[in-house]
Parts: sequence; structure tokens; C-alpha cells
Amino acid sequence: MGPRCLAAAVVVLLLLCAALAAALIYMQLSKEEEVCLTPGCIQTASVILSSMNSSVDPCDDFYEYACGEWIKGHPIPDDAPSVSNFENLGQDLEFALKELLEAKDPNGTVIDKNSAIYKAKQFYRLCLNESEIMDEWRKVFDEVVKMFGGWPSLGQHDPSMRIEKLYAIMVSKFKVDSLFKATVQPDDKNSERHVLLLDQPALNLFARDFYIAADNDERLAYMTLIRDVLVLLKADAQTATRDAAEVIEFETALANITMAEEQRHDIAELYTKMTLGQMTRELPYFNWKMFFNEVFADIKMKNGTDITFDDSTEVVVYGVEFLRRLDKLLPQFHSRKVTNYLSWCWFFKTMLRDLPDPFSLTIFKFYKSLNLLNVQKVRWHGCVTRINSLMPMATSSIYVKNHFDHEAKEQVEEMISLIMEAFTDLLESEDWLTSETKAFAKQKVQTMKQKIGYPDYLNDSGAVDQEYNSFIVYPGDYYRTKFKFYEMYQKDVLERIVQPVDRERWVAGAALVNAFYSPNTNEIIFPAGILQPVFYSKHFPSSMNFGGIGVVIGHEITHGFDDRGRLYDNMGNIRQWWDNITITKFEEKAKCIEDQYSNYMLKQIGLTINGKSTKGENIADNGGLKQAYKAWKRYEKSHPKPPRLPGVNLTHDQLFFLNYAQIWCGTMNDKEAVRKLRTSEHSPGPIRVKGPLSNSNDFAQAFSCPQGSPMNPYKKCRVW
Ligand SMILES: *[C@@H]1O[C@H](CO)[C@@H](O)[C@H](O)[C@H]1NC(C)=O
Ligand SMILES: *[C@@H]1O[C@H](CO)[C@@H](O)[C@H](O)[C@H]1NC(C)=O
Ligand SMILES: *[C@@H]1O[C@H](CO)[C@@H](O)[C@H](O)[C@H]1NC(C)=O
Ligand SMILES: *[C@@H]1O[C@H](CO)[C@@H](O)[C@H](O)[C@H]1NC(C)=O
Ligand SMILES: *[C@@H]1O[C@H](CO)[C@@H](O)[C@H](O)[C@H]1NC(C)=O
Ligand SMILES: *[C@@H]1O[C@H](CO)[C@@H](O)[C@H](O)[C@H]1NC(C)=O
Ligand SMILES: *[C@@H]1O[C@H](CO)[C@@H](O)[C@H](O)[C@H]1NC(C)=O
Ligand SMILES: *[C@@H]1O[C@H](CO)[C@@H](O)[C@H](O)[C@H]1NC(C)=O
Ligand SMILES: [Zn+2]
Repeated sequence: MGPRCLAAAVVVLLLLCAALAAALIYMQLSKEEEVCLTPGCIQTASVILSSMNSSVDPCDDFYEYACGEWIKGHPIPDDAPSVSNFENLGQDLEFALKELLEAKDPNGTVIDKNSAIYKAKQFYRLCLNESEIMDEWRKVFDEVVKMFGGWPSLGQHDPSMRIEKLYAIMVSKFKVDSLFKATVQPDDKNSERHVLLLDQPALNLFARDFYIAADNDERLAYMTLIRDVLVLLKADAQTATRDAAEVIEFETALANITMAEEQRHDIAELYTKMTLGQMTRELPYFNWKMFFNEVFADIKMKNGTDITFDDSTEVVVYGVEFLRRLDKLLPQFHSRKVTNYLSWCWFFKTMLRDLPDPFSLTIFKFYKSLNLLNVQKVRWHGCVTRINSLMPMATSSIYVKNHFDHEAKEQVEEMISLIMEAFTDLLESEDWLTSETKAFAKQKVQTMKQKIGYPDYLNDSGAVDQEYNSFIVYPGDYYRTKFKFYEMYQKDVLERIVQPVDRERWVAGAALVNAFYSPNTNEIIFPAGILQPVFYSKHFPSSMNFGGIGVVIGHEITHGFDDRGRLYDNMGNIRQWWDNITITKFEEKAKCIEDQYSNYMLKQIGLTINGKSTKGENIADNGGLKQAYKAWKRYEKSHPKPPRLPGVNLTHDQLFFLNYAQIWCGTMNDKEAVRKLRTSEHSPGPIRVKGPLSNSNDFAQAFSCPQGSPMNPYKKCRVW
């Protein structure tokens, strides 16, 4: 607990008193209205009151009204570029995992070294031991680089090592995606089976723009980072300077042939299925058959048979144009340069970010120059994040055992069915869908599956241990252990190529503050980590739960019907199940949202929102808010009237919208704001409040906003 927590505690205490006093006065004033004075209600009221600035007119700027005091009270911490209610939940979760991973086993427990929890704890311990890591890392590093055939910048290079083979090792053992992404996933046009998938690469510098735009700070900082790291790895200074420039040159050329994200929204257009034979003919430079066979060299079927591919093997490509350009780009670069680029990316992704000083100091300088942080982040954060992503079900199993309230699951199930009903009702009243398309849409929402909290098998520690059976901890050797974990994680993904799609499988762990819609399986997923305040609490009045997790539920359902999700049918296959007239109408409505958001400016930096790349999320926010509100009104009819919150002079309809807005309370520094606008599919917090509420007649009514006021404009957009 830092001094900030203490200060916060004092403030909360003061506010509690204030809330109580206000409540007492309030009760005098409105004798007929019941006020809730349970500790839960008082706590909730104090959080609400300490966040909002009630001297702002809600019809003027609802975000300021809801978040004004929160923002004053929460400066951006030194080790992050931003702060928000949402991000703070993630921090709390990290902290909870830290405690669990550090917990001592009670006296007398027999330690099962094959248990998943034991492995996760060992990994975490190894990750924290900086002196041990510094003693050991170079040995593992040298072994891996040798397996790669050398890293030219460091003076070794085996020219007979083919790029196909080198990259295949990186993909299968380190799940690298620096040249292109290669993986196994359900086929978008045959959702029962898995298929090989190729997609464009993940770039190290956030997004395409940061390479292409003329000399920007980010590029320069990145070049310095590469050079400094090469020197730390004992490259000579001249080589380091030359090779750093060459790595950027190649990476820039690669970035230049990728497609901008906003151009990649139409997955049906992006999707191409090719055979390996066809790829050999049309993309002759890179030997794709050799590549895939190398990736699967150590992967077997359940009965021990090798997995091999031939000319008839099908591959799904997202954006075949990228591969065509890559096939022309590669021969323009000497294999030394390409190998240097790949080695750098491998090192950056798998080692650099958790190597102690002097490496951590170098990367800190890089982050600092990008305004990502001002002080180094304490080491345990990264260790928690890594183990949570490498062994998600192990960390999830201890998380849910200690922090998940099983009552939440039942309540959320009830809310989901109400919100689905609301969606269906709204659908019924639409006049822009033909009856045929309407019937399909109804079927899609009715067959949508739901996953809430965590998968049942997490209760059975034997099943979790079995899942991580092949994960091996090497005592005293962090990177050897981590690399083994990477390899086993990736093996589990690659093995699926010969297995049918398992619709029971969770695509995400439970220890996450997020929610998902999966188009391939037509399902919505709400991990345990999001089922907590500010989204949900059993102590909240139900209006606030509907404004919180309720809107999230509606948001995820709506993703099934946004510009991307609408392309999939109820079984998760891309297929034209809409008639052309309805599609045209849909696109008009979506365009309205796109234009509306494109006109919103983030005042802080004077830049407008990219309405195109945020379109899907904005459609989901707008639809989610509307459906959740409708569901709340229905819920209200069949339940006793909830008492008021002490000292909060707001109706429950108003609380619904207030809680929705308060989820997005937050601030970012200017550089981060620019990055977010350029890279995120989500609109920034203030816009996520402004957009959906200005489109909502329900909101205008709840706060009696006059027509034409900033939060109740005449022109409104709506898709769902
Ligand atoms: C609250 O809003 C008023 C009116 O806009 C403003 O003068 C005041 O500074 C705000 N307070 C906070 C804490 O933002
Ligand atoms: C566990 O054992 C240690 C050493 O025998 C002892 O000091 C400690 O108090 C014990 N803890 C508990 C919770 O019993
Ligand atoms: C770190 O590793 C060293 C060497 O193996 C060991 O002696 C030391 O106890 C470890 N430190 C911690 C805190 O585990
Ligand atoms: C990007 O590609 C375009 C079109 O091929 C080319 O004209 C341009 O020079 C490239 N830019 C960079 C930075 O490689
Ligand atoms: C293993 O299973 C595959 C696919 O089910 C089958 O084609 C192959 O013949 C089997 N091999 C052996 C040795 O049983
Ligand atoms: C898992 O455990 C929790 C808490 O002990 C229990 O409430 C829940 O019903 C269990 N789930 C299954 C599928 O057994
Ligand atoms: C709908 O539009 C698509 C693409 O424009 C076209 O290929 C298809 O034939 C049209 N279908 C009907 C029934 O008009
Ligand atoms: C509560 O709000 C209502 C309507 O906004 C207002 O008329 C009333 O005076 C307020 N009561 C208190 C105690 O502030
Ligand atoms: Zn979303």
C-alpha cells in the first residue's frame, strides 16, 4: 500500500461521512422515499459522489458531469501513460494474482510438482530472481541463436539456413509473428474444422503509420533502442549502428506492404482460401510447403503419426495482396538483413522485455521517450502478466477459487436472457429489415451461446494439471522454462489442425477484465475478471448493474450484428444470409454512425476520431446501451422498487446512465492519446460516453435534456 492508497482511504472515509450526513438530511426531505443504508449502498453512494461533478449540467457534457471529480482525484501514475476506472480494475486483478502466486503453501501440504499451480508459482519465482537470470540468460540465448544458424549482427551467420526454416522454428517454438502471422484457427467458412491461417505481421511500433510517416520521434527512439541493445549483446558499435538502420529499413518496407486496419474490416473480402500447390505457383519466392512442414516438424497426431502437408493442403489467407507483395519484397533484401530483422524481433519479444539491467534500463529509456512511463514499472507486474497469458487456466483456477462470487453467475445469466429478449423485441419493431433477414437474425441471437465466469473444469484441479502436463520447469533457469512454456502453448494451438473445433473450449482465461464475442462459434464470453465493480456488484442497485455489465452484454451481442459480425451466420460461417436490400440499408445506418464519430474531436489533442476503424465498436456501444436500458425497464416492472442511494439525488434511470459513463472515467497523456486514436478499434472514453448517449432518447428523457442541447442533438444515428 503506497501513500496514495492511504490518501484515497482518508478521502473515502470523509466522503462516507458526507454521504451519511446528506442521507439523513435527504430522508427528512423525502420521507415517502425509502433510502438504502446498508454498508454496500453507502459505499456505492460515496464512490459515485466522489467521482461526479454535479455542478456541470448533464445535458451539456455528461462525461464531465459523471467523471469531473474522478479525473481530479486520479492523476496519471508515473509508471503508465494513462489511468482509468477500467484500467484500475486490471491493476487490481494483477495485484490479486500476485498475492495468490506468492502465497505460501500451508504447513504440512504435500507439494505436487506436477500440479499446474506449482508450475505457475515456480515460473513466477524464477521471473522475479533478477540476479539468477543475469547469471543464466546468455547460455540459453547462445543455444537458441545457434539453433537459428546465428545472428549476423553478432558475428555469426550460417548462409545455408533458409528463411523458411528459420522462421518456422521461431513460429513453432516462440509463437513469433514478425514476418507474417501463421497459426491454426477455425475456418470462417467451415466453422466445424480448423485450418492453417496466414495474416499480416504484428509490428513492434504500434502500427503501420509510425513507420511510414516522415521522421517521427517513435522511429528515432526505436532505432536507438536497437542499436543500444545490439551493443549490449556485444556487437561492435559500427555494426550495431548499421544493422539498427537496416532492421528499420526492412521493417518499414514490411509495414508499407501491410494493409491499414481500417481497410481490413470486411473479413469476407479479406478471406481467400488457397492450396499450397496454388501458393507455390503464385508466390514462388517463399517455399510455403517447406515452411508449414517445418512448423509442424515436432507436432504429432494423437496416435503418434506425423502431420505433413502437400499441394492439396488448404490455407486461409487474410489479405492475399500482402503475401503477393511480400513475395516481391523478400528477394530485394539480402538474407543477412532479413535474418537480422527476425533475430531482433525474436529477442525483443521473448527476452529483452524481462531482462534485468542494463537491458531493462535501455528499454525503459525507449518507453520513456515515447511517454509510456516516467519510472520503471515494478518487476512483479510483468511476471504476473506473463504467467497469466502462458498458463491462463492455471492462474484462472486459483483466481476464481479465491475471488469469484458464484452468485454473480446466476444474476448475469438472468440479465443475459433479458437483454437477448430486448434485442429480439427491438428487432421485431425494425422496419428496415426484410422479414426473411429478420427471421435469420432472430435465430442467430437465439442460438448464441454464453460462457460466464470460467469453464467448469477449473473446479477439478486434476483436469487443469493434465492440461499443463507437458509444461516443464527448469530449476534456476528462467528463460529455459519460459521457452518451454511458449513451445507447449504453441503446440497446443498447432495440434488442433487435425482436430474438429471444440465449441466448449474457452478462447480466453477467467482472470481478465474483458468480454468477447466470438464470430466463429457465435458465442459471448464474460470472464470472472469483469464481473466485479464498476461493472457488477451484488451490492449495486440493479439499475447500475444494467448500466454496467448489462451494457457490456448488449455490446457483445451486438458484435454479432456489427459490420464484421453480421457476415457470419448462426453457426459461425461467413455466408450471405442477408438480402441485398437490407444490406444497403444497414450500410446507410452504419455510415451515419461512422460520420457522426468522424466529427467528434478529442479536445485534448485536437484530433478527430477515425470513424471507420472504430465503426464496429461504436455500433456495439450504441446497440448495447439501448438493449440494456430496455432490459432494465422490463426488469424494473417485475421487481420491487429499489430504494434510493443515500445522498444521491438521482432516479434509477439516471443511475443506469451514470454508471455506464463512470466506467469510462479516465485520462491519458497526449502521446498516448495520439497512439490510441491511431491504433485502437475503440473510441476513447469521453467519446464512448458522448456518442451513445447523444443517440439515446432514453437518456434525454431520463435527464430531461432539451432538444438541441449538446447531449441531445436533433440528429441521431442508430443501427440496432
Ligand atoms: C466542476 O465543474 C465546474 C463547472 O464547470 C468547474 O468550475 C469546476 O472546476 C469543476 N470541478 C472539478 C473538480 O472538475
Ligand atoms: C509453519 O511451520 C513453521 C516452522 O515449523 C512455523 O514457524 C510456523 O508458525 C508454521 N505456520 C503455521 C501457520 O502453522
Ligand atoms: C535467486 O537465485 C539464487 C541462485 O539460484 C538463490 O541463491 C536465491 O536464493 C534466489 N533468490 C530468491 C529471492 O529466490
Ligand atoms: C511504400 O510503397 C509505395 C508503393 O509501392 C512506394 O511508392 C513507397 O516508396 C513505399 N514507401 C516506403 C517507405 O517503403
Ligand atoms: C492415425 O490417425 C490418422 C487420422 O485419424 C490416420 O489417418 C492414421 O492412419 C493413424 N495412424 C496410425 C498409425 O494408426
Ligand atoms: C465449482 O465450485 C463452486 C464453488 O465451490 C461451485 O459453486 C460450483 O457449482 C462448482 N461448479 C461445478 C461445475 O461443479
Ligand atoms: C447481391 O449482391 C451481390 C454483390 O453485389 C451479388 O453478387 C448478388 O447476386 C446479389 N444477390 C441478389 C439476390 O441480387
Ligand atoms: C433532487 O432533484 C430534484 C429534481 O432534479 C429536485 O427537484 C430536488 O430539489 C432535489 N432534492 C434535493 C434534496 O437536492
Ligand atoms: Zn467490443
